[in-house]
Amino acid sequence: AEAAENLPPHVPAWSQPLGTSVDDRPYGTPSPYESQVVRRSLKWITATRESSVNFTPLHDLDGIITPNGLCFERHHSGAPDIPPHEHRLMLHGLVERPLLFTMDEIKRFPCESRFYFLECAANGGLEWFGAQLNGCQYTHGMVHCVQYTGVPLKTVLNEAGLKRQAKWILAEGADAASMTRSIPLDKAMDDCLLAYSMNGERLRPEQGYPLRLLVPGWEGNMWIKWLRRLEVGDQPWHSREETARYTDLLENGKARQFTWVMEAKSVVTHPSPENPLLGKGFQQLKGLAWSGRGKIARVDVSFDGGMNWQPARLDEPVLPKCLTRFYADWTWNGEERLIQSRAVDEFGYVQPQYPALLKARGINSIYHNNGIQTWLVNPSGEVGNVRLG
Ligand code: MTE
Ligand code: CO
Repeated sequence: AEAAENLPPHVPAWSQPLGTSVDDRPYGTPSPYESQVVRRSLKWITATRESSVNFTPLHDLDGIITPNGLCFERHHSGAPDIPPHEHRLMLHGLVERPLLFTMDEIKRFPCESRFYFLECAANGGLEWFGAQLNGCQYTHGMVHCVQYTGVPLKTVLNEAGLKRQAKWILAEGADAASMTRSIPLDKAMDDCLLAYSMNGERLRPEQGYPLRLLVPGWEGNMWIKWLRRLEVGDQPWHSREETARYTDLLENGKARQFTWVMEAKSVVTHPSPENPLLGKGFQQLKGLAWSGRGKIARVDVSFDGGMNWQPARLDEPVLPKCLTRFYADWTWNGEERLIQSRAVDEFGYVQPQYPALLKARGINSIYHNNGIQTWLVNPSGEVGNVRLG
């Protein structure tokens, strides 16, 4: 309850004494009144450190950048504690000169800064059969968007000199899981980055400190954290993460492999189960859209479960392989509404409704769920996760 003596015309309690000093918080933290805005895990899917995940609180964030402390984490053996001066990056295989880099040597190469989203291919994986999780943090929160700084992978590969047979790169992490993924050389020479900073400061330990591979637009699993080894080869390695995991089981019992790109997707973050409507009248719908192929060209929103669509307003900047913020103004008179958003990318790819997605992919899949999310707004203003058709 509000104390009357803190309301106008009184001088409130906090305006009377001196405030805290510049030395009280040498590394700043959010206001204590925002302490509910945190990454959250689901105990039943993160039982052990052998495999753990938490989720970005998308419903509490504005704009397109995820603050470093709120980027979801996905580890296969916990986050290791790596002293940067003892870390090495090994580069070997089909190269003219095998090389071993210190972090200082990596940082001497020309760097660039780029905004990219990272989405785990398992984002929304539990939602294949139907609506499961009642919160946009859990249905869509395995995505984050950061401005990274680092060295183009191409620069480092050219330093070693690629042999003519070179076709694939193996990236390996320094965590106990030694996570490894094969990356085709074309992608490695295109926009992959060896990143040491995120949002202006050094990588957080849980995001791969001191060095991480970025594979823009492609599934998060390939973005090897705590990067310690790059091997150049002439064929893929078929590691655990690209055979037993991160393949897509189809209806006919066969599985798709190397489905790297994260296709266009979107979600309405307001209203959402965590953000109910607080009163009738004017509402601003807010959401996020992204495409691993490039830029978002358009986002449509529907208030009647996909029968009628209207274009949303895209906020600037709209960058390729980056989250895009969208808004739509609407009026709520207390009636039930079925809210959806549908992303379209610059190549004309349209985010699918679930019936079309399930027809193409079957019901036994986990990864690459980019189906259109439906939120049911009740007359009370509360919002639920529902599946239509
Ligand atoms: N890299 C290493 N070395 N170990 C890991 O467990 N997890 C992968 C990938 N890179 C992982 C890794 C997976 S499945 C995802 S989705 C992303 O990192 C998650 O990145 P984040 O923790 O920054 O969100
Ligand atoms: Co993942």
